[in-house]
Amino acid sequence: MNLFDPITIGDCQLSNRIAMAPLTRNRAKATIPNEMMRIYYNQRSTAGLIISEATNISSQATGYVNTPGIYTNLHIEKWKRITDSVHHYGGKIYCQLWHVGRSSHSDFHNGKLPVAPSAIASKGQIKTPYGLKDKEVPRELEISEIKQVIDDYANAAENAIKAGFDGVEIHGANGYLIDQFICDGSNQRTDEYGGSIENRCKFALEVVKAVSDRISRKKVAIKLSPSGTFNSMNDSTVIETFSYLIKELNNFSLSYLHLAEFYNPPGKSYKAPAHYLQEGEVIKYFRKIYKGIIVGNSGFDFKKANEYISKSYCDIIAFGKLFISNPDLPRRFKENDELNDWDVSTFYTDTEKGYIDYPFNM
Ligand SMILES: Cc1cc2nc3c(=O)[nH]c(=O)nc-3n(C[C@H](O)[C@H](O)[C@H](O)COP(=O)(O)O)c2cc1C
Repeated sequence: MNLFDPITIGDCQLSNRIAMAPLTRNRAKATIPNEMMRIYYNQRSTAGLIISEATNISSQATGYVNTPGIYTNLHIEKWKRITDSVHHYGGKIYCQLWHVGRSSHSDFHNGKLPVAPSAIASKGQIKTPYGLKDKEVPRELEISEIKQVIDDYANAAENAIKAGFDGVEIHGANGYLIDQFICDGSNQRTDEYGGSIENRCKFALEVVKAVSDRISRKKVAIKLSPSGTFNSMNDSTVIETFSYLIKELNNFSLSYLHLAEFYNPPGKSYKAPAHYLQEGEVIKYFRKIYKGIIVGNSGFDFKKANEYISKSYCDIIAFGKLFISNPDLPRRFKENDELNDWDVSTFYTDTEKGYIDYPFNM
């Protein structure tokens, strides 16, 4: 078994096991997908699977400038152009569904505070439409609002299918809303959504259920980062917490579970706390618990990816930064061709530079 073997996820036949990881690129002016984005995804359509950049499920879900949405008819119409274009070239594309929770700012919400499981701020600053600001203490969601957010996920999933996506990946990683509920550093609720591991995982599982009930569960996936500390995440029972959650996910026959071993923003190093699983341990550990297809991610190169596939530690590998700078990554891997370096300075800008101008040859 190697990276070039085909694989089926849900109803979707992937021509190889090389996935493009979800990558926020901030090119969607006023949340609307555009022609530049169509070209970008089209250039990368030889990936076995493209997972779209994180896409806001509602206006409330938003916390980064020029990130796309999937909650209006215009979003559906514009995303359709992108999915059609990827399909035209034989690719497959999932939409990553995103609610940032406390990783937002009142500047995005006409002065209203961002929402979260508990009124606990994450550390640091955030770039808003009006500049760099300190992160605020979010407002705790009421139970009726939690039900509404779950419904927003289901609506967004339905919209994604209308927009031609082959499926959806629920973003449960990297310290955004779902992760904020899971981990006790950000969830100190005393109701049914906080306290015990079961209660903290309830929101994630209810989102998975609502989305699976709305579209086929074969089209639903979730991304988790069980050792992630990005966005001030911490959990006192982390291995136990994620073991419970991942065991419960077995009940859903999802199309895959995406596991990011770590996430270090460009230029920052990563070290997991001592009671966390360390880099190199996360995927292997949860492989023993999860019964379905696992997409592995974080810091893979061709050699390590093939090792993971051939030893069956996981079934697909998602590449992030390598896909930014190598639109034709599968070909380069296959032909052992040289790889382009990525330019960090253009990751989050708003022009074609560093976005659709990396050289490639399909
Ligand atoms: C520019 C950039 C944007 C990212 N945006 C997202 C995102 O929207 N959703 C997500 O789940 N992860 C996001 N990530 C994390 C990547 O999906 C991936 O987990 C990370 O880059 C590690 O994989 P790599 O070592 O192959 O790059 C982003 C990473 C980068 C570098």
